[in-house]
Amino acid sequence: MSSFKILITSQKGGVGKSTVAANLAAFVRRLGKSVTLIDFDTHASSSNWLNRAPEIGVSVQHHLLPLEQGGKRPILDARLHLRRAAERAEVVVCDLTWTDAIASELMLEFDLVIVPTSVSEIELSATAGFLNRHRWVFDAIILHSAPMLLMCPTRVHPEQLRSDVFSNQRFPVSFMLAPPVLEAQSARDLFERGYLMDLPDACGTSFVEFGKAVMAALEMREASLVVRETQTTPANLSAIVRKPLHNPTASKTATVSSQASILGRHRLQKMRADATSGKNPSAPSQMPANSLASMRIPQFFKRMSMGMSTK
Ligand SMILES: Nc1ncnc2c1ncn2[C@@H]1O[C@H](COP(=O)(O)OP(=O)(O)OP(=O)(O)O)[C@@H](O)[C@H]1O
Ligand SMILES: [Mg+2]
Repeated sequence: MSSFKILITSQKGGVGKSTVAANLAAFVRRLGKSVTLIDFDTHASSSNWLNRAPEIGVSVQHHLLPLEQGGKRPILDARLHLRRAAERAEVVVCDLTWTDAIASELMLEFDLVIVPTSVSEIELSATAGFLNRHRWVFDAIILHSAPMLLMCPTRVHPEQLRSDVFSNQRFPVSFMLAPPVLEAQSARDLFERGYLMDLPDACGTSFVEFGKAVMAALEMREASLVVRETQTTPANLSAIVRKPLHNPTASKTATVSSQASILGRHRLQKMRADATSGKNPSAPSQMPANSLASMRIPQFFKRMSMGMSTK
């Protein structure tokens, strides 16, 4: 079985990695996919959450990486667990606090790398530093397996929603921006008791929007693989190795055009800001949001890659 692999990571503690990992796994499971969560953290927060909350059908694993052994050992162990899980599940979600003992190459195992960050300046700066250290992974477009990077603003207070830090912040890599997950006491109270997507408040709604954006990103990833395959093997669509993730009967997440709008809205703001500031003269300054939404996925990708670099 081909599988989509999602890594949720950052080097910062307490940003919401485990909360996002456990709840994203539950969200995808409810869409009808088979899901495995691999918790690589000593605290076991995401695995405990899923093991103790009302059963939702996510297969849960907890493995500790031999970080003290250094060298290739941590990455080899992680790869083994990941590949085994990917044989049985349509989607594998990994929760990992990154450390310098882990080689960047591990990120190449994934289709999607999600980096949660709060929107405080101190965390954004740390996140930018983290991404800078691993930028070659995301910038290496010649690498067939370069993962997509999705930044996820987490623990966001309502008054921070207007801030435009992702446009102003000079992140060193190409990335997409997910809708923010809001800060709420209800999210803390839910630990091991339920799922963010079921919260009847703004935090629950924000998480559902985030989950939809992740599904859209996965569908874009799939579309990009299709484009690559058709470029290298024209008229040979049977060479496509992944089966479609989108299951119209199980998922009500997104059509092709709305995928672009979910993520594109955020991306578009950045492209406009870049164009206005002269950082990226090729970014279209007057492009209406609905024209992006109506693009076909390959065009969307092309437009995004034109507007992505903030170097
Ligand atoms: N959306 C949210 N609203 C309010 N509190 C949150 C939210 N997300 C996470 N938290 C709280 O923030 C704290 C850290 O969350 P979590 O354990 O998910 O982060 P983490 O990045 O996995 O941390 P660690 O680095 O320790 O593994 C917890 O107390 C959690 O309940
Ligand atoms: Mg954690």
